[in-house]
Amino acid sequence: MLRYFGAALVTGLVAAAWIVVLPPSPVRQPIAFPHAKHQGVACTVCHRGAATTAHAGIPNAAMCAKCHSTIPGRAMASTAQREPPIAWVQVTHVPDHVMFSHRRHVTLAKLDCESCHGKMRERMAPLGVAPVRIEMKTCLACHNREGASEDCAACHR
Ligand code: HEC
Ligand code: HEC
Ligand code: HEC
Ligand code: HEC
Ligand code: HEC
Repeated sequence: MLRYFGAALVTGLVAAAWIVVLPPSPVRQPIAFPHAKHQGVACTVCHRGAATTAHAGIPNAAMCAKCHSTIPGRAMASTAQREPPIAWVQVTHVPDHVMFSHRRHVTLAKLDCESCHGKMRERMAPLGVAPVRIEMKTCLACHNREGASEDCAACHR
């Protein structure tokens, strides 16, 4: 019995180590979207929420259709062809217990997108994993530098 339990425990620990050590496996985005070919378009034209709300948002086919009549894999000519919504997968996340607002950082603190997301402007391929992994220490290092709040309750609910 004890030996049995020991084996189960070891298996469990190996599984836990596996989950902790391995980076998340890359997702496949539905369209090969190249940021680099859109350098003339301001970030907040497509990610409008970044200036005004908590969430930056990822644009849908109606936005693409303003400039494209077709995009790889779909026609854009009629409204019907713009459905269903493009199933982009968000790859940069904070957990639910963390409060993060883009507006606060972009509009009030006047930070560049690049200070948190790196050089998105130069990317030719869509993202499989977060370009920059944002952890608590990432938030705290900047808050410390900029004199912003380091209270647990400012960021955690
Ligand atoms: C404000 C105008 C604008 C919007 C909005 C826009 N694009 Fe573009 N897109 C362009 C321009 C300009 C190019 C560059 C064309 C070139 O280099 O020949 C481009 C290039 C591309 C390319 C590369 C195609 C190629 O032939 O190299 C893809 C794919 C693409 N866009 C997808 C999208 C998607 C998907 C959306 C919506 C999420 C979108 N675009 C929104 C203007 C726009
Ligand atoms: C023409 C529309 C368009 C423009 C302009 C644009 N993006 Fe994007 N962005 C997208 C689309 C579509 C995706 C989802 C596909 C991908 O990963 O490339 C995306 C994804 C992202 C992501 C990944 C979100 C996540 O899940 O982690 C970041 C960060 C981002 N963009 C930042 C920027 C920045 C910074 C700029 C300006 C330098 C910019 N974008 C300009 C359309 C755009
Ligand atoms: C202070 C750091 C910071 C800055 C500055 C910042 N972001 Fe983000 N961004 C984040 C974090 C953290 C997340 C994950 C948010 C979540 O899980 O709700 C994120 C998520 C995103 C996403 C995923 C989709 C969504 O709705 O949130 C996009 C797209 C994005 N950011 C674009 C931008 C753009 C464009 C700018 C500049 C106009 C920008 N970000 C500025 C930290 C930042
Ligand atoms: C590159 C610098 C930078 C990064 C990274 C950053 N912040 Fe901030 N943050 C600021 C600045 C500057 C302010 C003050 C903005 C203001 O309100 O004028 C601020 C303000 C805040 C506030 C409001 C605090 C208050 O006084 O109530 C919260 C909450 C917050 N940030 C959460 C986060 C979280 C969560 C992260 C990481 C996911 C993060 N920030 C990453 C620079 C940053
Ligand atoms: C500036 C924002 C910010 C402040 C201030 C902050 N945190 Fe966090 N915290 C985060 C973010 C973002 C995460 C999620 C990313 C991560 O796990 O690194 C997180 C994650 C955590 C976690 C979960 C860790 C895990 O492994 O799941 C704990 C516990 C935590 N914080 C405790 C605290 C305590 C206690 C304080 C005060 C001393 C504090 N935090 C202050 C942003 C913040």
